[in-house]
Amino acid sequence: MLNQQTIEIIKSTVPVLQVHGKTITTTFYGMLFENHPELLNIFNHANQREGKQQTALANAVLAAAMNIDQLGNILPVVKQIAEKHRALGVLPEHYPIVGETLLAAIGQVLGDAATPEIIDAWAKAYGVIADAFIGVEAEKYREAAEIPGGWSGFRNFVVTKKVKESELITSFYLSPEDGGAIASYLPGQYITVRVQPEGEEYTHVRHYSLSSAPGQSYYRITVKREGEGPDKPAGVVSTFLHDVVQVGAILEVSSPAGDFVLNKDSDRPVVLISGGVGLTPMVSMLETLIATQPEREVTYIHAAINGSLHAMKEMVADLEQSHPTLRSYVCYETPSEGDTFHKTGYIDLAWLQEVTDVNSEFYFCGPTPFMKAIYKALKEWKVAEDRIHYEFFGPAGSLEA
Ligand SMILES: Cc1cc2nc3c(=O)[nH]c(=O)nc-3n(C[C@H](O)[C@H](O)[C@H](O)COP(=O)(O)OP(=O)(O)OC[C@H]3O[C@@H](n4cnc5c(N)ncnc54)[C@H](O)[C@@H]3O)c2cc1C
Ligand code: HEM
Repeated sequence: MLNQQTIEIIKSTVPVLQVHGKTITTTFYGMLFENHPELLNIFNHANQREGKQQTALANAVLAAAMNIDQLGNILPVVKQIAEKHRALGVLPEHYPIVGETLLAAIGQVLGDAATPEIIDAWAKAYGVIADAFIGVEAEKYREAAEIPGGWSGFRNFVVTKKVKESELITSFYLSPEDGGAIASYLPGQYITVRVQPEGEEYTHVRHYSLSSAPGQSYYRITVKREGEGPDKPAGVVSTFLHDVVQVGAILEVSSPAGDFVLNKDSDRPVVLISGGVGLTPMVSMLETLIATQPEREVTYIHAAINGSLHAMKEMVADLEQSHPTLRSYVCYETPSEGDTFHKTGYIDLAWLQEVTDVNSEFYFCGPTPFMKAIYKALKEWKVAEDRIHYEFFGPAGSLEA
């Protein structure tokens, strides 16, 4: 337990950290990778470059500091982060390394303002926060191992099928090398893949949403080839999967995770909205809805640049033919000749109001600017917050403008 004086010091330093939060975490990562390059086996190097990860960590530390005397208030956030940590393979022994480095970074950025009392208070507070994460993560590792077909850490999977879905998107079907059962999952969840392409110094770990309904003997992921042109180099893992990984290859996979899941307890209409490769969790939800709640009204809206970049087009069209409760709409930013679609340009509120019911449960996923636009439209339409669900294909952030 922290004493009152420590709690007061922590709370009084929150405004300073709010000003310097991102500088501290940027300094922190520089020091962390210099002193512990082995951690580059876990961290996503591109997320560091974009600064998203620094912001996510700074926000989490600040939220914890503000609630240091009632960490229970931020338990939902801790659980969300712990879910990603578990999927990535973060372990208790990593926490002291992060703690020491964080204190050193606070000291360096605040200079003389970081008195021994402040550093001491933060060391104690970090200990409390780290224990909370370690506890939640231990529980998650245990649950992952104990569910039928489950496992803890990474397990080898064989690529049994590779299917091109569009010019840039390909699906991979994965079965466990040991021939055993696999853990089921909730539609919307992801698995995490760890690879080390030839010539790469470190392993690279990425999350991929499961793109089919649960209940099969395999997992399916559907991956977009990332990176184009000189200022956007080829994405390390997606390019490796597309160009090098063929049927028969082995991938290391950690078990399904994530809290972006379909609420099957509701019988409200469902609206699924995806942009680009953000379709993967939507397709899993769509297949599940049709199989388990065939009477529930579903509207599926997919946005793509044009027809050649539109994955799983025929599959969704076929489902719509055979299921009268499903309506699907296609929105192309810049359609090509011969494309068939319902709307061009971007999805906006006026159009959403035409094709969907405000009382629905809304789920969406896609590039961040796309998600911001959808979120803003739904808020303007006064859709209740607890009926708005979304997933970031990167570190979680804010959708407020
Ligand atoms: C919960 C979750 C679910 C996801 N589900 C899916 C899914 O179903 N399908 C899917 O395809 N993806 C999904 N993703 C994204 C996926 O995890 C990867 O982030 C994605 O495949 C890119 O990884 P990469 O290694 O290919 O690219 P990285 O090497 O990580 O690069 C990412 C981007 O940064 C750019 N970049 C890298 N270095 C530079 C540089 N120096 N300058 C400028 N730009 C640079 C690259 O061009 C690329 O566009 C999901 C992510 C999350 C968090
Ligand atoms: C109390 C300490 C910690 C806090 C508050 C914290 C917070 C966070 C947050 C907020 C995220 C972003 C989650 C998201 O993607 O939505 C994250 C991701 C991550 N964390 Fe932690 N974390 C802590 C400790 C650790 C430790 C000890 C490790 C292990 C070395 C670690 C490794 C990672 C990795 C690898 C990611 C994914 C980042 C990426 O590569 O994009 N974290 N953490």
